[in-house]
Amino acid sequence: MAILVTGGAGYIGSHTCVELLNAGYEVVVLDNLSNSSEKSLERVKELTGKDLVFYKGDILDREILERIFAEQKIDSCIHFAGLKAVGESVEKPWQYYNNNISGTLTLVDEMRRHGCKNIIFSSSSTVYGTPEKVPVTEETPKGVCTNPYGWTKHMLEQILSDVQKADPEWNVILLRYFNPIGAHKSGKIGENPNGIPNNLMPYITQVAVGKLEKLGVFGDDYDTPDGTGVRDYIHVVDLAVGHVKALKKIEEKAGLCIYNLGTGVGYSVLDIVKSFEEATGIKIPYEIKPRRAGDIAMNYANAEKAERELGWKAENGIREMCADSWNWQKNNPNGFED
Ligand code: NAD
Ligand code: WQD
Repeated sequence: MAILVTGGAGYIGSHTCVELLNAGYEVVVLDNLSNSSEKSLERVKELTGKDLVFYKGDILDREILERIFAEQKIDSCIHFAGLKAVGESVEKPWQYYNNNISGTLTLVDEMRRHGCKNIIFSSSSTVYGTPEKVPVTEETPKGVCTNPYGWTKHMLEQILSDVQKADPEWNVILLRYFNPIGAHKSGKIGENPNGIPNNLMPYITQVAVGKLEKLGVFGDDYDTPDGTGVRDYIHVVDLAVGHVKALKKIEEKAGLCIYNLGTGVGYSVLDIVKSFEEATGIKIPYEIKPRRAGDIAMNYANAEKAERELGWKAENGIREMCADSWNWQKNNPNGFED
């Protein structure tokens, strides 16, 4: 029984491949390497001592999907492949809608044609828009997104839900990730952003390694305890384990399920700076900058449903998240290019 992991060479995908292989699954990766390196998959093999099958190709390409379903016995798909840069999605909406939405429609159609009706989809806390109150539960209404990236997640949740409703043989699990950070304990795989990072933790680690001068803190006048934005940071290995648990749920028959994957704890930007300094002993210089367009003050998860129904709970605290992010960055200052 093999699992097709689209986007498996990427940040969350590579960590999930490790957990899947360790749990005894066969893994088939489809990735066009538009935002990743094949070297991450070499490291996955090194870390697990197990092999996986890699197809370099696009989820929009029916031919390669046909080939995969003909050559491999795919039981379920974990669908990570997608473009994810919020700012870029505002500049290039067509590329985001085409890649993420048309790509998923193509994938799902090929799955259906080959009788594979199990999918776990990477959704995001961004679908809640600006929540009226936190923590958010899965019942919190979806909100208005502030960028095309967020809308792709919002729309794909609807599309996949409708597919499952029309044909109850489908099992669709929508996982709403909060803010993934950290890296595998080995420091062999981790997040490898292109250019100047948009997200907080990779920015901090690049300041720590001396590639960037100082962190800009986007706003200190939010209605939060210290005025800076509050988020639910989750260790990427905990997130990866959540996917293995979701597969078990599919094996028991899931229908349509939605889960928040977060820790349930909110940390501000300044909390993260402080935790990083404590975990690593490295000082992070910062300056307060204006708010970033589209940011919200506060979001964190109520993740009790995943604990109740999947038996999943995040294990790593903020100190481990910071230490592991740093361990990856310091051992791989140029990502997979070393
Ligand atoms: P990533 O960019 O590291 O991984 C995505 C992978 O998909 C990359 O390896 C990329 O090369 C591949 N890809 C993109 N378009 C493709 C296509 N058309 N065909 C084949 N491969 C393609 O990103 P990530 O952080 O690992 O995110 C994985 C998924 O989780 C994405 O769908 C993302 O939107 C979602 N997500 C991420 C976060 C986050 O903060 N990292 C939060 C919520 C949801
Ligand atoms: C976290 C906090 C910033 C950078 C994004 C996407 C979301 C999801 C996760 C995919 C905020 C502040 C950041 C910096 C800062 N991705 N910050 N200086 O915005 O919560 O979520 O990634 O689905 O959809 O929107 O994450 O890491 O960018 O920001 O002060 O240089 O750090 O303002 O409060 P965000 P982030």
